[in-house]
Amino acid sequence: MATREKPLKIGLLTSGGDAPGMNAAIRAITLAAAHHKLTCYGFHHGYNGLINQDYGILAPDNVTNIIHQGGTILKSARCPEMMTQTGIKQAVSCLIKENIDALIVIGGDGSFNGMLAIQDHWQGKLIGLPGTIDNDLDGTDFTIGFSTAINTAINAIDKIRDTADAFDRVFVVELMGRHSGHIAFNVGVACAAEQIISFENFDPLAQEAKLAEIIADIEQQKLNKAHSYLIVLAENLWPGGAHSLGEALKQQGNIDVGICVLGHIQRGGSPVAKDRILATKLGVAAIEAIITKKSGIMIGECESKITHTPLTKTIQHQKMVNDDLVSIHEDIFKIGNH
Ligand code: F6P
Repeated sequence: MATREKPLKIGLLTSGGDAPGMNAAIRAITLAAAHHKLTCYGFHHGYNGLINQDYGILAPDNVTNIIHQGGTILKSARCPEMMTQTGIKQAVSCLIKENIDALIVIGGDGSFNGMLAIQDHWQGKLIGLPGTIDNDLDGTDFTIGFSTAINTAINAIDKIRDTADAFDRVFVVELMGRHSGHIAFNVGVACAAEQIISFENFDPLAQEAKLAEIIADIEQQKLNKAHSYLIVLAENLWPGGAHSLGEALKQQGNIDVGICVLGHIQRGGSPVAKDRILATKLGVAAIEAIITKKSGIMIGECESKITHTPLTKTIQHQKMVNDDLVSIHEDIFKIGNH
């Protein structure tokens, strides 16, 4: 008599900065696993769940009414222990002890480095799903969470624009993105920012020249017709950040500047349709990849097609902000050009 194959055991965790749509991905993975009769375990608080053997079963009942929720029901964390051999070995021994056949990690580049470390010591399958607001992973046009984050930032900046307009005031708004300008540039264009200071168009060594340019631009604008002036700044770029840029404009240009560091508001909130749908497609594709015995890859979507990219290639930061967008802002719409 033929022996029945044991159902595969899947482990799932969310790691690093949470991103809206992570719950939609957890739901899709759980439902697809149930459909294919696989068992799914959710590990809590990122890689800490592996290190501390903190996990629970994920069944369809556990994922009802979560598709619209921000955050992650599995919780997330950054896990410094995964930078150490001891931490990696603890994570691996949990996977072995619990007979996990495949691990899915939803996160960004730091989380994928964790998977690469596990790969050296474990025979199971490893699948990554791009979950970060920063959109800074290669192998996918968009990461889960990016669309919601830019919509959140746009809504916030539209409100800032109202008060800035009422006072004909200058505002500096600093946006997240870690070391990439996808959020800053897209939001800056969508909010008709007069200035976008991002990795694509600014060299921190050219600070003084940029200050002079902005001050002259604001003066010119006053001569024409006063209105608000919005500067969108990518985080981790201008030395000292938005506060330092605002202070320099006050000191050198005698300009009244409002400052807003938008911060973690960009990570929260109900995911927009685009993130829910992307997360659902990628979650189902992750289970299909496991069934077809793939490993060491991230599931992404490029030009509306599901893609498999080796994890090592996803973290090289080759995906740039769309050139057309940069050129529209820098060349075509540039205020000083008119
Ligand atoms: O990677 C997501 C992100 O929100 C970045 O945009 C930001 O630089 C970072 O995480 C902030 O991390 P933390 O919440 O740990 O301060």
